Amino acid sequence: MEEITISQAEVLTSPNPFAIIVSYKPSGGANLTAASWWTYVSNRPAMVAVSLSQKGFAGECITQYGTFTLCVPDKALAEQAFYCGTVSGRVEDKAAISKIALRQWKEGFPPVVENSQVAMLCRLERAVPAGDHTLYIAQVEQVLADSSKQGLKAYDGYRRLE
Ligand SMILES: Cc1cc2nc3c(=O)[nH]c(=O)nc-3n(C[C@H](O)[C@H](O)[C@H](O)COP(=O)(O)O)c2cc1C
Repeated sequence: MEEITISQAEVLTSPNPFAIIVSYKPSGGANLTAASWWTYVSNRPAMVAVSLSQKGFAGECITQYGTFTLCVPDKALAEQAFYCGTVSGRVEDKAAISKIALRQWKEGFPPVVENSQVAMLCRLERAVPAGDHTLYIAQVEQVLADSSKQGLKAYDGYRRLE
């Protein structure tokens, strides 16, 4: 073995499960953020966590409204989903520009990405600052799935979706 950086390790250990985090924007509508640093953290109760950069917009939106949806998009959305990881929702209306179809599922939660393999309606429980990111730990209130879809994975850190 040899010593490497954590960024190099992220490439070596990819792929990661990928998700689009949908949050409410203070100006109205939904913001879509690409996220490969998410994980399941508990079965009972159902819980997930997602680590989001403190520079990004999504964390701010989630903190303000307390809910988000975590959607694993189908492979057909690879290009549009990648776009959601290249620009901030503070700068562009990613829902409008990407034309990713959204569907309102439950009151109080941002819409879900329609063409998803799995979508989870999440209620923020705790936000834990961790270095340059914040870990958003959430209870999953409802899980939706379409097993005919193939969920995207993130390869080589943030570089590629397949
Ligand atoms: C494939 C991929 C995966 C990403 N995963 C994460 C992640 O897990 N956490 C994070 O903070 N940013 C991640 N990013 C970067 C953000 O999506 C990107 O900075 C985005 O512009 C933030 O948008 P926002 O400011 O609207 O939240 C990822 C980008 C890509 C392309």
